Amino acid sequence: MIFLEKINVHFGKGTAAFRVALNNLDLRIQEGEFLTVIGSNGAGKSTLLNTIAGEVIPDSGAIHIDDEIVTNQSTNIRAQHVARVFQDPVAGTCANLTIVENLALAMRRGKSRSLKKAVNSESQILFRELLKPLNLGLENRLDTLMTMLSGGQRQAVSLLMATLSPLKILLLDEHTAALDPKTSKFVMELTNRIVKEKGLTTLMVTHSLNQALQYGSRTIMLHEGRLIYDVTGKERSSITPQDLMHQFGNTVDNDRLLLNS
Ligand SMILES: Nc1ncnc2c1ncn2[C@@H]1O[C@H](COP(=O)(O)OP(=O)(O)O)[C@@H](O)[C@H]1O
Ligand SMILES: [Mg+2]
Repeated sequence: MIFLEKINVHFGKGTAAFRVALNNLDLRIQEGEFLTVIGSNGAGKSTLLNTIAGEVIPDSGAIHIDDEIVTNQSTNIRAQHVARVFQDPVAGTCANLTIVENLALAMRRGKSRSLKKAVNSESQILFRELLKPLNLGLENRLDTLMTMLSGGQRQAVSLLMATLSPLKILLLDEHTAALDPKTSKFVMELTNRIVKEKGLTTLMVTHSLNQALQYGSRTIMLHEGRLIYDVTGKERSSITPQDLMHQFGNTVDNDRLLLNS
């Protein structure tokens, strides 16, 4: 269970660039829930994920993961339970290391094992088995540098890396946005399979309203750092991307109203 309690995140305090990124945000996520997160640019989506990962420490409020308060816990410690995949396929991997080295590094996440020890013949066999179901032929290219892979191949490897060690929470920040539609679908299906197989509590930021409804079990919308829409269950199965569009529209209209009043 993740419980975000009255989270406030501000940037650039005392400067002209002052921003309220999260505004008194309350959010409770049950174990195994798969949330899709939508909202316009600057709504606070990435900050929400960064706050859960420990990259951003909130100005006030508390973060509970299961029975533990982790508000001030460092990213390193939190990495034992939380993994992330970003939009930029380069961000989550070491471009100048090989596939096998990257996977070995990922397996060490939160542990102190040396890279050399982790790249042994046993792990090579494990990595081959992991890569095979991707059907990308990567199981025969273990010694290929990550930089040689296409965006989709890298995101597939990034997902495997993120979910290799035991973890509770998977954070995906527009991880298919830089891919063409066909590759994006492939990476999404892979994501879905991994999340289901491992029963991961997942937050996925997406720009695609289709994706937001097609995958996951609950959809939330952020606007100016606040939760303005939260839908799950039967209601969620009956709404369309157009309905979500209307929700977006409403926020824009409300802004106009506020501006005019
Ligand atoms: N590191 C940062 N420094 C200053 N401002 C930031 C930083 N990160 C985010 N912001 C600001 O916080 C707000 C929310 O940003 P973000 O969470 O990245 O939005 P989203 O991911 O929904 O597009 C924006 O106004 C953004 O400019
Ligand atoms: Mg973002």
